[in-house]
Amino acid sequence: MDLGLSNATALVTGGTQGMGRATAEFFARDGARVAVFARSSDGLAETEKALRRLGSPDAVGIQVDVTNPALVREGFSTISERWGSLNAFVNTIGPGVTGSIDELTEEQWKESFELGTMSAVRCVREALPLLRKADWARIVFVSAHSTRRQTPSLVSYTAAKSALTSISKNLSRTLAPDGILVNTVSPGTFLTGGVRRWLEGMAVERGVDPNSLEDLNRIIAEDFGEPCDLGRAGLPDEIGAVIAFLASRTNSYMTGADVNVDGGSDFA
Ligand SMILES: NC(=O)c1ccc[n+]([C@@H]2O[C@H](COP(=O)([O-])OP(=O)(O)OC[C@H]3O[C@@H](n4cnc5c(N)ncnc54)[C@H](OP(=O)(O)O)[C@@H]3O)[C@@H](O)[C@H]2O)c1
Repeated sequence: MDLGLSNATALVTGGTQGMGRATAEFFARDGARVAVFARSSDGLAETEKALRRLGSPDAVGIQVDVTNPALVREGFSTISERWGSLNAFVNTIGPGVTGSIDELTEEQWKESFELGTMSAVRCVREALPLLRKADWARIVFVSAHSTRRQTPSLVSYTAAKSALTSISKNLSRTLAPDGILVNTVSPGTFLTGGVRRWLEGMAVERGVDPNSLEDLNRIIAEDFGEPCDLGRAGLPDEIGAVIAFLASRTNSYMTGADVNVDGGSDFA
């Protein structure tokens, strides 16, 4: 499908790995000018090269830690100077904090909300002037389908992600008069970055093959107790395609939605 992204400008936070990287690659293949925010300079340099090769000669990796407001401002200034406006803003940053209510410290709660909620709020506030200057604009946030289940060991993670989903819903109403469509995607389990490395570690501990998707999926089925009709974890492109559509001009009527991308579950 032509996403109508040729020459559009797009920013993906966390765009060097996992879902963010897959999304940035969809944008690049469709001819968008793509910027990615991340912390690792090596990751940014490699991603910038890859995106340019894929069809985004103006792609740029910008070193921004989204927990640092000054760096976020600088990152958006770079985009403003370069392109002057922004069509698509995709936020994929998420907290990696685990622990039950008895275990989590005050600092860990703050970290969860800093990464899962405030980083997105901070970026959106900087993005809005640029999105409003564009002739069409979309925002997509990555939440998590675990917000709809009881997972006590992820309580601060799911709380921060639930806040993000709520913000997205409200932004949809606030920004509709400006023609800016805002949606959230809620992934199930995906074989990306940290999750994949964690599963590979479990595979080694259990004496099964860490490089075998079948073995990794068996661990998920046995340990996670998650509903998944397709019976396997998702791959980055399988969610990147959905995010890229929601963030594109081709999406002209979806806003305020929270879209499950979870291989099938009974969640509404
Ligand atoms: N994978 C799953 O099963 C799953 C399920 C449900 C929801 N999610 C959510 O989906 C989103 C994407 O997850 P993923 O697994 O695709 O991630 P990932 O592969 O671990 O990639 C994370 C990306 O974010 C960047 N990043 C991390 N902290 C950052 C910071 N403080 N400032 C700027 N960039 C930062 C990383 O680059 P640097 O390290 O270089 O900064 C990298 O580009 C997250 O919000 C996660 O909570 C994932």
